[in-house]
Amino acid sequence: MELREIRRIARERFKGACRVCPNCNGRACAGEMPGIGGVGTGSSFMANFDSLARIKLNLRTIHDAVAPKIETTFYGRPLRMPILVAPLAGMALNMGNAMDEREYMTGMIEGAKAAGSITFTCDGPIPLFFQLGLELLKKNQGWGVPTLKPRPEETFVEMARQMEQCGVPAIATDIDAAGIVHMKRAGQPAGPWPVAVWKKTISRVKLPVILKGVMTAAEAKLAAEAGAAGIIVSNHGGRVLDHTPGTAEVLPEIAAAVKGRLKVFVDGGVRSGTDVLKMIALGAEAVFVGRPMAAAAVGGGVEGVALLLNHYAEQLGTAMLYTGCGTLADIGPSALRPIRNE
Ligand SMILES: Cc1cc2nc3c(=O)[nH]c(=O)nc-3n(C[C@H](O)[C@H](O)[C@H](O)COP(=O)(O)O)c2cc1C
Repeated sequence: MELREIRRIARERFKGACRVCPNCNGRACAGEMPGIGGVGTGSSFMANFDSLARIKLNLRTIHDAVAPKIETTFYGRPLRMPILVAPLAGMALNMGNAMDEREYMTGMIEGAKAAGSITFTCDGPIPLFFQLGLELLKKNQGWGVPTLKPRPEETFVEMARQMEQCGVPAIATDIDAAGIVHMKRAGQPAGPWPVAVWKKTISRVKLPVILKGVMTAAEAKLAAEAGAAGIIVSNHGGRVLDHTPGTAEVLPEIAAAVKGRLKVFVDGGVRSGTDVLKMIALGAEAVFVGRPMAAAAVGGGVEGVALLLNHYAEQLGTAMLYTGCGTLADIGPSALRPIRNE
């Protein structure tokens, strides 16, 4: 199977719910929420893509980085690449019923596993998301990370316990889903919670807890204070609040604020290996890809997801060679040309 064919099949199956655009930049689907797009004007999704596109790389070839190494670890698990699969829920609600939810999640989890990466699973107002994640993560020896909604302490801790028994390496929670409308409608409150509540909740979970949806340095410090083991700099793919900056824009100040205290990951608009290199140069340990991975799962299942991840990995290696970075640790600000204000 080839990526072009996978994208063609996905386009057919989505029936317009996602156009599988050559540039997945949030323009065609602006405001389609529920759907695949960004909320409101779609500006937050577009800002992710645009803020990455503005960054330019320094081409360097007088060096000895002939065979760049991209292997890394994720809370004790070895990964073949610093490129992970973001949690994307809702075949019925968001993706035009393009595929059976179980088949889709199997593609996301097992495709990532085959490529030596890892997928984050979901939680939501209907029990299916959590239950399916639980079942598939058990089947895959805990090769995945559940992303729980920021539910009240007792519920959160109980759900985390069930997941701990599957052998997952960490638990995530999309704190930026606080106030999400379909959770409210289903009578299931989900945050926001003050730092003291997170401190207590996190202290009751045995595994490392990752807070997803941090967009300011001040909140990153609060996450560290709460005992989080990691944060994902994310605006939820532009789906929760209109007019936020792009994640590549805020990443450097956030990484600088909490460096060494917790792991910093990022998502939003990452569409190639060069984008991965840019995010790492801006301070991320690893990155997540969202929408393109869902399209790969819909168009090619397990094989599609593995193929796209391997494609990004190869591009990352090439980008490292051309910027003179032999290892992930070598990727830093010197790979980037400073942005000048016009
Ligand atoms: C259709 C759709 C469903 C999503 N569902 C979830 C979810 O259940 N939990 C979550 O933490 N993030 C969810 N996200 C956000 C993604 O995890 C991720 O933050 C975002 O898509 C990254 O941006 P990108 O798609 O531009 O790569 C969803 C995004 C989309 C597009």
